[in-house]
Amino acid sequence: MKKIAVFASGSGSNFQAIIDAVKESKLHAEISLLVCDKREAFCIERAGQAGIPQFVFTAKNYADKADYERAILRELEGLGVDFIVLAGYMRLIGTTLLRSYEGRIVNIHPSLLPAFPGKDAIGQALAAKVKVSGVTVHFVDEGMDTGPIIAQKAIEIDASETKESLQAKIHAIEHELYPTVLQNLLNAGGLS
Ligand code: GRF
Repeated sequence: MKKIAVFASGSGSNFQAIIDAVKESKLHAEISLLVCDKREAFCIERAGQAGIPQFVFTAKNYADKADYERAILRELEGLGVDFIVLAGYMRLIGTTLLRSYEGRIVNIHPSLLPAFPGKDAIGQALAAKVKVSGVTVHFVDEGMDTGPIIAQKAIEIDASETKESLQAKIHAIEHELYPTVLQNLLNAGGLS
């Protein structure tokens, strides 16, 4: 069974979808670790409820990105983690983690990349008044939401759409898409 670590900074609804998919045997992987950079984030509660070990860190307690990523790497290597799943992790991955895990790190982003990378992709899509947006799963490289695209799903944006309604639609798609794409990657040996 492949071992994954999920990185999150917030509510962790995608993390929960992955936990549920593992429980329901839709995703054949072991979630070995939650990595979180926010002590008050709800994803930590979710990990606790599911009995998943956590590495919670405060970036400002480290000299720099390389320093905290070395600490993360020690945890990952200690547990024999095979790949990294970013789920609302609000930091760019640096060279320390990329060197060891390049090609084995995936991210989910709430837009049809390359449109609307970075923060508040949903707000950006609404401000641009696009008629279609969606969700992208991609491999992570050193850029901001720039790595090779693995899967995308489009959503039509209604005239009456609000940030809340679009976010709800996007989350519903993400929770279905992410575990499915992860399992497909595992089947294809794409994350091994
Ligand atoms: C998701 O919309 C994901 O696409 C983006 O951050 C959000 C995280 O939501 N990268 P949650 O914490 O999984 O609920």
